[in-house]
Amino acid sequence: MTKQNSIRVDEQQGILRLDTANTTYVMGISNGLYLGHLYYGAKIPADDLSYRTALTTPMSPENIKKDFCVYMDSTDFEYPGWGIGDSREGAIKVRDALGSTRTNLIYKGYRISSSKALIPGLPATFASESDPEDVSTLEVDLQDPDTGLLVTLFYSAFWAEDIIARHVEVRNEGKNELVLERVLSASVDMRETDRQGKDLRLMTFYGIWAREFTKEIREIGHGRTGVSSIIGKTNNRAQPFLGLVSQDITQVSGEVYGLNFLYSGNFASMVEKNPNGGLRVSVGIHPEEFSWHLAPGEVFYAPEVVMTYSCCGLGKMSRNFHDLYRKHLIRGSYKDRKRPILINNWEATYFDFDTEKLLAIAKKAKECGIEMLVMDDGWFGKRNDPDSSLGDWWVNEEKLTGGLARLGRELEDMGMKFGIWFEPEMVSPDSELYRTHPDWAIAVPGREPSRSRNQLVLDVSREEVRDHIFNSMYKVLTSTKISYVKWDMNRHLTDLYSAGLPDCRQGELLHRFVLGVYDLQQRLLTAFPDLLLENCSSGGARFDPGMLYFSPQIWTSDDTDAYERIRIQEGAQMLYPLSCLGAHVSVCPNHVTGRVVPFKTRGHIALSGTFGYELDITKLSEEEHEMIRQQTAMYHKYNDLIRTGDFYRMASFRENGFFDCYGVVSKDKSEMLLTFIHVMNQPCMPTRWISIQGLDPDKLYAVEQVDDSTIGPSEQVTDATRKVCQAHGATLAHAGLIVPCRYGDFQSVLYRISEVKE
Ligand code: GLA
Repeated sequence: MTKQNSIRVDEQQGILRLDTANTTYVMGISNGLYLGHLYYGAKIPADDLSYRTALTTPMSPENIKKDFCVYMDSTDFEYPGWGIGDSREGAIKVRDALGSTRTNLIYKGYRISSSKALIPGLPATFASESDPEDVSTLEVDLQDPDTGLLVTLFYSAFWAEDIIARHVEVRNEGKNELVLERVLSASVDMRETDRQGKDLRLMTFYGIWAREFTKEIREIGHGRTGVSSIIGKTNNRAQPFLGLVSQDITQVSGEVYGLNFLYSGNFASMVEKNPNGGLRVSVGIHPEEFSWHLAPGEVFYAPEVVMTYSCCGLGKMSRNFHDLYRKHLIRGSYKDRKRPILINNWEATYFDFDTEKLLAIAKKAKECGIEMLVMDDGWFGKRNDPDSSLGDWWVNEEKLTGGLARLGRELEDMGMKFGIWFEPEMVSPDSELYRTHPDWAIAVPGREPSRSRNQLVLDVSREEVRDHIFNSMYKVLTSTKISYVKWDMNRHLTDLYSAGLPDCRQGELLHRFVLGVYDLQQRLLTAFPDLLLENCSSGGARFDPGMLYFSPQIWTSDDTDAYERIRIQEGAQMLYPLSCLGAHVSVCPNHVTGRVVPFKTRGHIALSGTFGYELDITKLSEEEHEMIRQQTAMYHKYNDLIRTGDFYRMASFRENGFFDCYGVVSKDKSEMLLTFIHVMNQPCMPTRWISIQGLDPDKLYAVEQVDDSTIGPSEQVTDATRKVCQAHGATLAHAGLIVPCRYGDFQSVLYRISEVKE
């Protein structure tokens, strides 16, 4: 099996198979009619797997007929229908002209292509231009003979990344209108009892504002469990990710299945454990608050799910996702480019700023090696607090004398780029926009809508609303040279009703809203192809792979406390590449937690993200300015490696309570940057032992400390003490690296591990 024949179909046996470099996915036709699931996991040889169809359905054709419900309830299906005997979670439910929801999908045929389809209006992974053969696609048609509903399941195998990407297209080939009441994007039936008692456990990420990305692993009890969002967007309460992990899972060993959803709205990522030892995983748009009218000839597209399997631990899963997202999802001119180091004025000034203040920050920032000033919330309308002006996207000349043109010009003269904040999907009740178009806000006619942060949500499902937003942003972005937009979104969707939809179609609002957001961001990127877009939602409350299709980076959390960031970024790094994690150095005591962490450590932790500053640089000491100069130089030295390399986590403070350690190794394994954070000091613990992962076992490496971190306050770092050792990759993995513990908490040290040519 090579990547050129990674999809094979045995028509005689009715077996359809996909392979990636290390995984295999197999489906089979069951009872001559239904598409069954046969296997997903570690790569297996190309054996005849038709015996598995019999195993998952141990019933004779006569008995199936007599006891169809038993057959339905005990068979592993690929995309289960509704109301015909399967009591588990269905993947699709469609109401027909009779009012019935019986949805009976029969296998019809397949197609193979050596490419990857885009999905109209939705984010989707794509084949890379440099290696188009890396992905092939299998399309399987299923049809309900009674309603004419045609369902096409798409499976794309990304060979090198060990990813199967799935999405679903639903076409009404019948004569009558159909109403879709659920269209999930993926269902996977697994045989859990095959694991010799090592039951799989569920891994998810939960959080709240300023505490995003907390990993949780739990036992899967019988029944349905999982994570979801019903607030109209993805959520800081749960990542749209579902993992199944073996009991012995670590970074380097154990099994993991990971499914991530490329969508930014309501989702459900569920697992259902059945008494017969089966697990059904289902991922898709949450069926709550969803319905979609499909007229004859119309098509509905369900968003993409990406799935990976690793039999060598969580680290491999992370690297599979990182490579997929960097190579096959993130687009635009910054896809493979270093981002400018920015300074954002939010924590420096909040709403209290003017042109002079911003220019003073920019001037000092420029002197320290920072490359872009980002003007955050408060520059427009009459906004001096969160109570007004969202939607009034014209500059407040009282604050910004000379307008954006002057600020932009002066920044340009200084050699600084200029970035700006918007919250385009929102409107303040106290705004010109709301007074002119009250019906543009999402609200039920005649009922007072719930406010959040004293604002309402604009109905971007409507084209005229989107046109207005786009035109307002266009005007601002062409009024001076703007290189970057921070696109924020600071509340849930509630009081669901769209004045643009007939009453019977209100169930379409939430999905149309998400499509509207995508449309707006796409229009922006088309109009300004060099714009660097950073998505944000009260920190990481809309941090999902769908948004990564539009912005190469997302603000990870409003919690900029470096100590908190250790945990938050560990969670985020497990799914997303370092190149997309918004991370800034901020002032201490930290505004969210009041904690004090050394400036140097704050820099080291932000370095493993996009890197920037969020503080009033004019108020810092000369010593701190010097540290910023060193940090910005360090960014330029190591960002190519951090952005493009392979990530290895070697110790987790979350798990051990004392220290954190991770490294990024170049693809050719010639260089690694290792970050060690001695988070909590502990008496009688002079050193920590780290098994260095990711190096080439046969290569000789020099290990060198690259910063001036000392063991204690009276120690000095000299050129001699910087040179730690020379050893082969195998030695550093097995005998390990010994890192001296530091005096005090929150101390960090960086090591460069570079190949020595023998
Ligand atoms: C949100 C963002 C912050 C900041 C404020 C401005 O909370 O997450 O970074 O932009 O809005 O109001």
